[in-house]
Amino acid sequence: MSKEQLTIREANIEDRANIETLWKDVIDHAFKKEGMDAYHNPLDELDFKMNQFDQAFKKKTSTFYVAYKADELVGTIAYGTPPNRGILRRTNNALIDMVEIGSLYIDPIYQKKGYGKILLVHILEALKEQKVDTVCFDSIIESSKQIWRKIFGEPTYLIPSEKHDFTHMIWVVDVQQSIINLKKQH
Ligand SMILES: CC(C)(COP(=O)(O)OP(=O)(O)OC[C@H]1O[C@@H](n2cnc3c(N)ncnc32)[C@H](O)[C@@H]1OP(=O)(O)O)[C@@H](O)C(=O)NCCC(=O)NCCS
Repeated sequence: MSKEQLTIREANIEDRANIETLWKDVIDHAFKKEGMDAYHNPLDELDFKMNQFDQAFKKKTSTFYVAYKADELVGTIAYGTPPNRGILRRTNNALIDMVEIGSLYIDPIYQKKGYGKILLVHILEALKEQKVDTVCFDSIIESSKQIWRKIFGEPTYLIPSEKHDFTHMIWVVDVQQSIINLKKQH
């Protein structure tokens, strides 16, 4: 798949404004599409995510990547440890030492064109170079759960929410095998 003119690099603080705009668009779009805005305010999710971004930058607990086409931000992805609070709480801290992949957001205009997979391969290859063998990630968004099921198989943990009508899915996957799977499906 040729995705010419896509530049993927580590994010720096100058990317913050573009990231906030992108995440707002993606979250608004996903929440509306999924009907999640009925019980979860997209602006609260955005605030939560931006706070996470600022903390991770300050404490250097996560590394964010940005993908640009010319000067247009198309997507983001990140890895970091420990995993997010939801994963820790719902697994009784079983994954506390694991690297989590997250913040995978693709501009709605560019979704379903293969960019999500390109960013996943990019970050998994970076982690492989760092000798990371296993990673985890989670999802509460229905459409992305279907995508991860298709690519990574059934989730390792499947935890119904105590408050809402959704299931929190958490995957623990082998880095090398996931790269092979993602490349096979290109
Ligand atoms: C989920 C997301 C990151 C996927 O990125 P993407 O660039 O749209 O996905 P890709 O084009 O790389 O597609 C990956 C695979 O999923 C499939 N897919 C894409 N969108 C799909 C959908 N809505 N339902 C089912 N399958 C879908 C594709 O067909 C592809 O499989 P294939 O290669 O066998 O055809 C992106 O859609 C997004 O940002 N969604 C909103 C935010 C979100 O949910 N982030 C993840 C939080 S866990």
